Amino acid sequence: MKKGIILAGGSGSRLFPATLAISKQLLPVFDKPMIYYPLSILMLANIREILIISTPEDLPRFERLFRDGSHLGLKFSYASQPKPEGIAQAFLLGKEFIGKDPVLLILGDNIFYGHDLSQLLKESICTHDGGGLIFGYRVQDPERYGVVDFDKAGNVHSIEEKPKKPKSSYAIPGIYLYDNDVIQIASSLRPSKRGELEITDIHRAYLERGKLRVKILGRGYAWLDAGTHEALQRAASFVQTIEQRQGIKIACIEEIAFQMGYIDATQLSLLVRSMQETEYGRYLARLLKKEDLATPC
Ligand code: DAU
Repeated sequence: MKKGIILAGGSGSRLFPATLAISKQLLPVFDKPMIYYPLSILMLANIREILIISTPEDLPRFERLFRDGSHLGLKFSYASQPKPEGIAQAFLLGKEFIGKDPVLLILGDNIFYGHDLSQLLKESICTHDGGGLIFGYRVQDPERYGVVDFDKAGNVHSIEEKPKKPKSSYAIPGIYLYDNDVIQIASSLRPSKRGELEITDIHRAYLERGKLRVKILGRGYAWLDAGTHEALQRAASFVQTIEQRQGIKIACIEEIAFQMGYIDATQLSLLVRSMQETEYGRYLARLLKKEDLATPC
């Protein structure tokens, strides 16, 4: 598995007026842009070929932020989604990028954190032998999400998008791993009543073929979304609390690139130069001096 897509479009209307003139996924979550969080997850999973999908207005801003990705040892491509016509449209917009490979899709406003998360993802990818893999995460308000119902053996019974009466407390976080059939499945979808190609319909298609697996992200993991003002504030406080307590950063993409061996010390020092006035930059400078090396990713 080498390819990942970050879906970072949408209107951000639940965050108006904060997102009237800028993409939600570029808003800061404490000390870095929101999109750094899903990007860090792809990097930790060893995925280095990444397609960013966003609106025609916002795409140039992401290109300015990440360029071709080589400064991070990554390879970025960009695609525009003129209208928010559904999460599953990502596989049609990304058809050429995906080619004949499997693909991991992550939503640009989803934040994941937890011990050994990178290991879990790497293992999930290594052992992925076709079909679809989604995750389940227990939440208090499942009706706000895609919901998966399954038995003790982990067999999926049903998948529903924002059900009024959820059959379980397990929401489906915005990270999905599919084999290459996903392109053909996405092409066969019809828009839902709200005019979107629904990601839930992709899950259902795999379920009908008997090829959908669910992995539970247990209580040791945090999964946050940042789609409303309250959620954004909570996510920022969470990141600040952990970072300041431990003195190590969450989703510091330059650190991950360095620790994973995607870039060397000379390349990291170039990145540090432009950021020395912030704590973020000083943190990277300390890494360079090897004064304060955190546990490798
Ligand atoms: O966060 C996980 C949930 O994400 C899943 O549990 C649901 O099954 C899934 O439908 C989705 O629900 P949301 O209500 O959060 O979807 P939303 O329309 O807010 O889109 C999620 C992100 O994807 C958001 O950052 C905007 C982006 N997006 C969305 C659509 C529909 C796009 O870039 N393009 C789109 O066309």
